Amino acid sequence: MSEQILIIDFGSQYTQLIARRVRELNVYCEIHPFNHLPEKPENLKGVILSGSPCSVRDENAPNLDLNPYRGEVPVLGVCYGAQLLVHQNDGIVTPSEIREYGRARLEKMDQHYDLLKEMTLGNQVWMSHGDTISKLPSSFTNIASTADVANAAFKLNGEETYGIQFHPEVTHTEEGKTLLRNFVVHICGCEQDWTPDIFVESTVEDLRNKLGNDKVVLGLSGGVDSSVAAVLIHQAIGKNLYCIFVDNGLLRKNEFEEVLHSYKDMGLNVKGVDAKNAFYAALEGCVDPEDKRKAIGKTFIDIFDEESHKIQDVKWLAQGTIYPDVIESVSVNGPSATIKSHHNVGGLPEKMNLKVVEPLNTLFKDEVRRVGRTLEIPDNILNRHPFPGPGLGIRIIGEVTAEKVRILQNVDYIFINGLKERGHYDQVWQALAVLLPIQSVGVMGDERTYENVVALRAVSSVDGMTADWSKLPYDFLADISNKIINNVKEVNRIVYDISSKPPATIEWE
Ligand code: XMP
Repeated sequence: MSEQILIIDFGSQYTQLIARRVRELNVYCEIHPFNHLPEKPENLKGVILSGSPCSVRDENAPNLDLNPYRGEVPVLGVCYGAQLLVHQNDGIVTPSEIREYGRARLEKMDQHYDLLKEMTLGNQVWMSHGDTISKLPSSFTNIASTADVANAAFKLNGEETYGIQFHPEVTHTEEGKTLLRNFVVHICGCEQDWTPDIFVESTVEDLRNKLGNDKVVLGLSGGVDSSVAAVLIHQAIGKNLYCIFVDNGLLRKNEFEEVLHSYKDMGLNVKGVDAKNAFYAALEGCVDPEDKRKAIGKTFIDIFDEESHKIQDVKWLAQGTIYPDVIESVSVNGPSATIKSHHNVGGLPEKMNLKVVEPLNTLFKDEVRRVGRTLEIPDNILNRHPFPGPGLGIRIIGEVTAEKVRILQNVDYIFINGLKERGHYDQVWQALAVLLPIQSVGVMGDERTYENVVALRAVSSVDGMTADWSKLPYDFLADISNKIINNVKEVNRIVYDISSKPPATIEWE
């Protein structure tokens, strides 16, 4: 098992970013909530304390005994984490009198300290806090300041424990990566050997040990995660991995045939199941988005279960679950409301009574792609845009029918191919077409038409949590609009969605 950094989460919106930055240094790390920490891992090399929306002065502020870590391994407190160190050691944290949000510069800095090595005086950092450290404990040494924040960074005397008031993980902190490298590599002494090759090697070996001669079933979706999970498990156990790829009738045009073909080319033992009609039947009369998701999810589970039972003696269900799906989050403001139920097939393991294997559950999406590249999975699978489990079912507003799916597939095909031909596909995070439940008047030659309206949407994003609408060139949009209206006779009007997330979501339903 590789060496690791433990990131203790106090509820900051940036905690996952810290983890991604550490992993970009090829160092493995895990995030755990402050109130639910695992036993100290044997190979622990250092600890990072995250920020938090709370104040250390609050009565119920997140707190933690740091003695098991301090002095044993290096510790870095970021923002709230730094204030917690001060608060626990008789320093003083008070509400800031001036605004400490946004850009600032490190104007005083002692680069003799390992944490600040190779950083430039005057470099920009990102501040985001309501409290400030007004007095450091006497056993702490100040090592950096900005014009407004005297105690921007400090070190505890006689131990490798540091605190910083700014956020090194966000890109606005220009030398944040250098600082994190200083901590993780120079101070914690991590070897930086957690690479995709090593991940593949050790995961395949672990899977071999865990699965032995057992049979495993896995549902392929055409997406990156299930494909990478399948190839990893296939490398470990070969033909004992049984893949099932269900055509739910809500995929993109020709996608089922093309992707099935790619999977076979990759040597996977895969069965394609045409279940279109079962899905259309389940969707009959369904208009509410959540009802549609449930109907699609339930039908998938039934079909998958039925198909799996055709394989003798299956012991395991493999899933392409990734790290963001399993990170326990710190709930500082009570449980968050369900906005959309994205876990479409959440009930599968319970229903099937199988043991679950999830080889990607420690990886972020971009890491899954990198592992996929190491495994030589074709680009047409690795670089495809995210596509929701309920597919076109939530891009047809109102009731879904086979005919509406056919119309939307034709529109989507022209849009997506256009993006690829003009080199825009890889620049946008996700692109989609939505069939609206209204007709509009048009003219075609001398005839009046009364046909469907379609909305096109393309967004840029890093993780789908926030997104900006893509500024695709006007001439491209004009060209695509003409092509769609000329080739899909059921459509006579195209609109382009110019809303960002939040407040709009990426999908319309
Ligand atoms: P929203 O619409 O919430 O979407 O901004 C964020 C990302 O999630 C995808 N999405 C889904 N994925 N099942 C999925 O597997 C769903 O029910 C679902 N709804 C949205 C969406 O395509 C985008 O990438």
